[in-house]
Amino acid sequence: MTDLELIRLADQAREEAYAAYSGFPVGAALLGRSGKVYTGCNVENAAYPLTTCAERTAVVKAVSEGEREFEAIAVVTATGATPCGSCRQILREFGGPQGELRVIVADLDGNSNTFTIRELLPHGFTPDQLG
Ligand code: THU
Repeated sequence: MTDLELIRLADQAREEAYAAYSGFPVGAALLGRSGKVYTGCNVENAAYPLTTCAERTAVVKAVSEGEREFEAIAVVTATGATPCGSCRQILREFGGPQGELRVIVADLDGNSNTFTIRELLPHGFTPDQLG
């Protein structure tokens, strides 16, 4: 699975976004160590804070299907936006002991940037800190 293929899957997932209030559809595609890809989109609600982000949709799908280790996630938006703070924390939980998960953000014009989750959430709270 190449980064470009993962971006394409995230772009397709974006088509399913329920962004009725923000008008800002987001698509994500999460690549598990097994090679399987779990996609997600944002799902909004009339009670606005109940919205689920695309990245979290993908993580919850994956973990609920038995996969907990991931190589990369692609996130596609109109602006090439980076994941929100809550999603960074969720991704850090499953992003490897050193936070090596690759986070690829892409826009609709073929521009992309790649970070590790450690770069996006430096000094974040990690499971080992529970002692
Ligand atoms: N959103 C995501 O899906 N992922 C993020 O990391 C940032 C924000 C969604 C939430 C809401 O449906 C819309 O984008 C605007 O904030």
